[in-house]
Amino acid sequence: MITIKSVLKKIQQYKKVLIIANIVAIISTLLSLPVPLLIPLLIDEIILGKGGWITQNIDQYITINSPEYYILTVLIITILFRAMSLLLNILHIRLFTKIAKEVTYSIRKQLLNRLQIVSMSEYDMLGSGAVSAKVITDVDTIDKFISSSVGEIIVEVLTLFGVSMIILYLNWQLALVILILNPIALLFFVRVFRSIAKIKKKENRAIEVFQNSLTESLELYNQIRVQNREGYFLEDIDKKAKHIRDRAYMFGLRSEISLKFSQMLIMYSHDIFRSVGILMVLLGLLTIGKMLAIFAYAWVIMRPMDKLINFTHLYFNAKTSIERLNEILNLGVETKYEEKVNPFTSEKTASIRLENVSFSYDQNSEVLKNINLEIKQGEKVAIIGETGSGKSTLAQILIGLYPVNSGNIYYNDVEIKEMGYECVRSNVGFVIQSPMMFNNTLRFNLLLGKEHEDTVIYDILKIVQLHDFVSKLSNGLDTIVGKNGTKLSGGQKQRLSIARVLLDNPKVIIFDESTSSLDNQTENRLLEALSLYTQDKTIITIAHRKNSIEKADRIIDLDSL
Ligand SMILES: Nc1ncnc2c1ncn2[C@@H]1O[C@H](COP(=O)(O)OP(=O)(O)OP(=O)(O)O)[C@@H](O)[C@H]1O
Ligand SMILES: [Mg+2]
Repeated sequence: MITIKSVLKKIQQYKKVLIIANIVAIISTLLSLPVPLLIPLLIDEIILGKGGWITQNIDQYITINSPEYYILTVLIITILFRAMSLLLNILHIRLFTKIAKEVTYSIRKQLLNRLQIVSMSEYDMLGSGAVSAKVITDVDTIDKFISSSVGEIIVEVLTLFGVSMIILYLNWQLALVILILNPIALLFFVRVFRSIAKIKKKENRAIEVFQNSLTESLELYNQIRVQNREGYFLEDIDKKAKHIRDRAYMFGLRSEISLKFSQMLIMYSHDIFRSVGILMVLLGLLTIGKMLAIFAYAWVIMRPMDKLINFTHLYFNAKTSIERLNEILNLGVETKYEEKVNPFTSEKTASIRLENVSFSYDQNSEVLKNINLEIKQGEKVAIIGETGSGKSTLAQILIGLYPVNSGNIYYNDVEIKEMGYECVRSNVGFVIQSPMMFNNTLRFNLLLGKEHEDTVIYDILKIVQLHDFVSKLSNGLDTIVGKNGTKLSGGQKQRLSIARVLLDNPKVIIFDESTSSLDNQTENRLLEALSLYTQDKTIITIAHRKNSIEKADRIIDLDSL
């Protein structure tokens, strides 16, 4: 779970940098604070001839006491102070930005880590667009809050404090006017921004719905084209885009108006303040120079006030984005079982046993009911059954993709919970029924990040009858396969997905309709080559066609189990 507190805790992890950055920020603020004081006070000291500490101090170092020199000296000091303050400011921005981006990155990582372990049943319900909208848009909203909070707020509060002190020192009555009026305006905006954040949430939700639709339609664009349904889908996406437009308009309008309104309120408070200032000069309670200095500081206060208002705005937006991110972090995770025993070590292959296994995807209907099954080491078993009878489901629970409702699954007499899912999946290869391809090279699709020499890859390609095809390609293994392998035929994709599993050299292999798209001749050649490769392995072949199952030692009909 993410909370504002946990985000702040993450920021605190960078304590050292944070302290350095804050010290830099404080020095930078301190350097900038006297600037507005210097020139206006010269009015009293030079024009009105009242003399004072600026001219006296300069006299200590420079003996020529002419007004032009005083003005020039103060100007140079002012310019130097501003420049030094700016340099330090740049340094502090660098340090703070680094912290902010690190924290944002760690939030993204936290989300990705959760997705990595999310359970399959929860994953089935996820839309990739919705997830990416959250990981991008909402994290971005939080990023803005972090940047504003760590980078600016401390400096701004300090400035506010420092300036308040100076104004109070210069004239406390006039200072009170501005120091009371500004916070009242700020309190008012806390309320307004809380309600605006709710609109922001709706906007982000609309982006999520749009992105989900767009991603899915783009992924399945072939299907849409074939069915001649581009019009329908584009219209649907357009509707969702309009929805974003309306939500964003509402949010943009209300937040901009509120921000402008807030600025105006602050301006009003300054107008009142200035009028009181002039009145005080008129009544002889204040000198003109002091009045101008206080006016200058009142302008300096504007920036922190503005930032504080913006900060509350970002704070409420971040809060709603955090709620949305927690939707990902609250997804159920796959139960992790530690590897206590590895039944595959020092064994060429494994026996498989199912005891009273029942399984359902949801509460309503059981797909597998009380299955008992025993497969010996090295046995070649074919599983047949009506379409929808649960053959692919059986294969998936055999590798622990979905946990069973009841019963046990054993490899070499060790229950899969005892060996952990990682151990199962690295020893039991599963060629899935509808293989997926990345829009990347053949090599990438075969290895999926693992490493193998090209000669090893070509040896496996020989088994799956793709050696000639790949060798003839001008780019060979570096040929890009297109979106979900569109540049490949159905049979080529099937054979690549077999090769992908064979490259892992698993001890047990499950083939799920893996040769259904091949012509009889190619299929026979492939099965022949495969039978040599799989000689010592336990093999489960799920198939409808006679070709693929006639070499099996035993045929199991799932419908009659
Ligand atoms: N991820 C899932 N979530 C919910 N129900 C599912 C899921 N996958 C499959 N089912 C349901 O489980 C049942 C068995 O599906 P399964 O894919 O195991 O059948 P199959 O025997 O492999 O069929 P086919 O021969 O057509 O490949 C079907 O009724 C299907 O609707
Ligand atoms: Mg199936």
